[in-house]
Amino acid sequence: MNVIQTKNYQDMSEKATQFILDKIKSKSTFKLGLATGGTPVTTYQNLIQDHQKNHTSYQHVTTFNLDEYIGLSNENPNSYHFYMNKHLFRHIDIPANQTFIPNGLATDLEKECVDYDKLIDEHDGIDLQILGLGHNGHIGFNEPGTPFDKQTHIVTLAESTVEANARFFDSIDDVPTQAITMGIGSIMKSKEILLLVSGKEKHEALHKLLHGDVDQQFPASILQRHKNVTIIADEDAIMEKD
Ligand code: F6R
Repeated sequence: MNVIQTKNYQDMSEKATQFILDKIKSKSTFKLGLATGGTPVTTYQNLIQDHQKNHTSYQHVTTFNLDEYIGLSNENPNSYHFYMNKHLFRHIDIPANQTFIPNGLATDLEKECVDYDKLIDEHDGIDLQILGLGHNGHIGFNEPGTPFDKQTHIVTLAESTVEANARFFDSIDDVPTQAITMGIGSIMKSKEILLLVSGKEKHEALHKLLHGDVDQQFPASILQRHKNVTIIADEDAIMEKD
């Protein structure tokens, strides 16, 4: 794993933006895996600014999001469909039919999961998957204990994840308890992975990822076995304990 240390969140976001732009510009078709949550927000803002200033085009880019809550409509401000439109898609020139996010309202959710993996395969896989890191080591919504070979599937969120995500909702009771997520098996098929980590509260998780064993109880540890992972982390997240 290639680790890039940055001064702070802003700096992490700038490095991530440049990293993503270089990759996107290097190919005539590009499949980008996207994450939501707090960590990539400024990176997405930077991509928008670059698009406005330098006119970087996304016409050749297809995106696949990691996950979506079950039971929220696309218009619900807490759905990841809404998040992606708000924070990225509607500000760049990506064709809407080239942006994919699991449908948490599908009548047949099991089929939705199978179809999502098929769709990624039909596009020849993801070139670069962006990930954030959960406090408990989750990637996507793959909570501790998730088998490493799982493909896209339905999950019940860990209590700590519901609590962490409650900050985006009016009340913790409004946080959905289930989601569809790309599995660890699906994520590991990506040709390249970019993990973004910021803040003291992620220090323990990042330390475990960098120095711990590969263990299903800590999902992100599987990244040690991927051939092409870059971690961009700020000082607070990476700082070694005394
Ligand atoms: C988001 C996702 C999650 C987050 C993780 C970190 O699509 O799949 O794994 O990346 O929960 O979230 P933040 O960035 O809010 O700390």
